[in-house]
Amino acid sequence: MSDLIEKNANNQRLPLIPLRGIVLFPYMVVPLIIGRENSVKAVTYAFEKKLPLFLASQKKKDVETPEPGDIYEIGCVADIIEVINLTNGMVRVLAEGVSRAQVKKFINNPEFYEVEVEELKSFSRDEKELEALLRTLKEKFGEYISMNPKIPKDAITTVAAIDDSEKLIDAVMANIPSQVPDKQAVLEENDMNERLIKTLSLISSEIEVLKIEDDINKRVQDRLEKMQKRYFLNEQLKEIRKELDEGESDDETIKDLKAKAKKIKMPEDVKEKFDKEMERLTKIPNMSPEFTVLHTYLEWLADMPWGVYTQDNKDISIAEDTLEKEHFGLKEAKERILDFIAIRQLNPKSKGPIICLVGPPGTGKTSLSKSVAHALNRNFVRFSLGGVRDEAEIRGHRRTYVGAMPGKIIQMMKKANSMNPVFLLDEIDKMSMDFRGDPSAALLEVLDPEQNKAFNDHYFSVDFDLSYVFFITTANNLYNIPVPLLDRMEIIEIPGYTEIEKKEIAKQFLIPKQKEENGLGGFGISFAEQSLLDIVRYYTKEAGVRSLERHIGKIIRKVAREKIKKDIKSVKITPQKIEKYLGLRKYDYTSMQKMPRPGVIAGLAWTEAGGDVLYIESSLFKGKGNLILTGKLGDVMKESAQIAYSYAKNLAPKYGIKQESFDKYDMHIHVPEGAIPKDGPSAGVSMVSSIVSTLSQLPARNDIAMTGEVTLKGDVLPIGGLREKLLAAKRGGIFNVIIPKKNEKDVKEMEEQILANLNIYYVESVDQVLDKVLMNQAKD
Ligand SMILES: Nc1ncnc2c1ncn2[C@@H]1O[C@H](COP(=O)(O)OP(=O)(O)OP(=O)(O)O)[C@@H](O)[C@H]1O
Ligand SMILES: [Mg+2]
Repeated sequence: MSDLIEKNANNQRLPLIPLRGIVLFPYMVVPLIIGRENSVKAVTYAFEKKLPLFLASQKKKDVETPEPGDIYEIGCVADIIEVINLTNGMVRVLAEGVSRAQVKKFINNPEFYEVEVEELKSFSRDEKELEALLRTLKEKFGEYISMNPKIPKDAITTVAAIDDSEKLIDAVMANIPSQVPDKQAVLEENDMNERLIKTLSLISSEIEVLKIEDDINKRVQDRLEKMQKRYFLNEQLKEIRKELDEGESDDETIKDLKAKAKKIKMPEDVKEKFDKEMERLTKIPNMSPEFTVLHTYLEWLADMPWGVYTQDNKDISIAEDTLEKEHFGLKEAKERILDFIAIRQLNPKSKGPIICLVGPPGTGKTSLSKSVAHALNRNFVRFSLGGVRDEAEIRGHRRTYVGAMPGKIIQMMKKANSMNPVFLLDEIDKMSMDFRGDPSAALLEVLDPEQNKAFNDHYFSVDFDLSYVFFITTANNLYNIPVPLLDRMEIIEIPGYTEIEKKEIAKQFLIPKQKEENGLGGFGISFAEQSLLDIVRYYTKEAGVRSLERHIGKIIRKVAREKIKKDIKSVKITPQKIEKYLGLRKYDYTSMQKMPRPGVIAGLAWTEAGGDVLYIESSLFKGKGNLILTGKLGDVMKESAQIAYSYAKNLAPKYGIKQESFDKYDMHIHVPEGAIPKDGPSAGVSMVSSIVSTLSQLPARNDIAMTGEVTLKGDVLPIGGLREKLLAAKRGGIFNVIIPKKNEKDVKEMEEQILANLNIYYVESVDQVLDKVLMNQAKD
């Protein structure tokens, strides 16, 4: 390849322009934008003197004023084809590489870089190898061009025509984006074989990079295509649905729903929500489960009594009559309810407290609430909280939950058919709590006048106004009601009934009701007064009248059967017939012990079911002075037994009890009817009496019952539930009772009927109790 080497070998003195980021090769035409002052001067000088330029690359691109050491010594001599002056003092130069050359000397020129260069000569050590390398490079370059979309494909034919290895290398270099040092290494190589090898390695690595790029592109493309496909399919699906829905836009169910919604007065925000969801519903195919879910929801919205208010009865005397007509007695409860009604009447917006009716089972709490609705002429709904343990039962599940429904409050409001019903939250004390959240917290929101204007059910997700609702709650026991709830309620006690009251309730209400229910409305069936008293005394043991009602029902059904069999006109239920209808007596009227015995005391207890007479027994066994307690006693009751035992020791001398009775014997106290849990401190007096009676062997009077808490000093403290306890004593046939002096004021407030025939002893100390109950031989 001698023609390559036969270049002009003369040293030339040329202006130098340092290049940034590119390496110029012979045969390469490049446009250069030149801005550095001395470079511009160099160009001007060369252009005027018609000299070529020496173009060499900077070792580091970002050096602004390079020293000779910052510039590669080997570069390219280039002819200036064209110079264009740009506006801002810069020039654009079109230059064409001519030959490789090396700096021999830097000339000291303050204006621009000037160098003396010597042209470099290439040589080949192996012509055969050169040929082989040339072909390989052509092939690789062809491959590269075919892979690189930025190079026009017809460049392949141009390349195929190049036979000069130097030209080929220059063509390759002009087209690959390799780094400056790599390209510089190719430029500097004089050995043609070596230069081809270096070029080959550069282009091979570029091909690798292209392949990797291609691979990446393909993967990106794939992903894009998948996304696009999804997008298109979705769009198609939408179109198909639209098409289908258009056909079914007069779907009956949707039509009905729309018609229903048109008729009601939804509040603004509800209407908005309804319309929005309705819009969505029309777009969902009606076969899909989503349709059903949304449709059910909209139905709920449309079924609520939005804007429906019943007209209240404003006449308080009519209200009074209604309450009187439907329930016997309950004087105080009725009075307080009427007060409430009056206040609400005067100020319909008044957020009076919620009524809570508290009392033993069967005393008419639930049915009295119903009467309140009648008295006010409002609709009535009842929701029993017994066993509710999940917040969602009250406030519903979110719609995302499978099978979600609104909570009971909303369900009941739908049933109520008006925004202002009487809403009974029955048995609020029977609610419990578990891991699914505290229902009482949700209930608080329902009952709190500050919050219930905008009650939020999870399912509904629109606010519902509960502020016009008349809430009534009921409970058997206040202790089980969470304090924050209790705090918002006005307690009205519904006490137990006396025998006389029960007899009256039966006569005036239960018998007519049962006759009606059993289809004997017009039939002449009458109960003798004594029969009713007998049923109360011997077949029931309750504070309320539920069991009484059941027994009356039983008799009436039996009579109904007889009537069908024998065609009788009327029946009178005499006391003699009771046993025939109801079987043997269940209870002794008097639970009084037959004889006075040591250690047996009648205590009066209060339970959820009303009052009761409990017999407390004690006896001594050889032992070490331990106190043994049986009969399912609660902690408070156990403590009060301890106190009683300790106090009994103080009394020992007075009753002639020897110390060894405490040291060498165990005291066993038992409260029978073991299955019923008992608690409270009010059995204190009964326990001391029983212990002292056992130790002293003085029998206790069997016709006295007692109640009272005892302190370690022997004082008697007041107790609760007195009314129920007095009723229980009478029910048990005991007419003498010992009660704390401090309870005297409660007795003063009681009706004559309860106190009739009762002999009450008020006491302040245990001594006074023992004086009354122990049958001291000396005294009696
Ligand atoms: N004073 C009364 N006058 C007329 N009927 C009464 C009276 N008290 C109770 N009743 C009747 O006794 C039955 C039981 O009453 P209700 O179910 O209201 O009791 P409750 O107090 O709610 O009991 P629970 O605490 O067990 O729920 C009903 O049929 C009711 O009408
Ligand atoms: Mg009830």
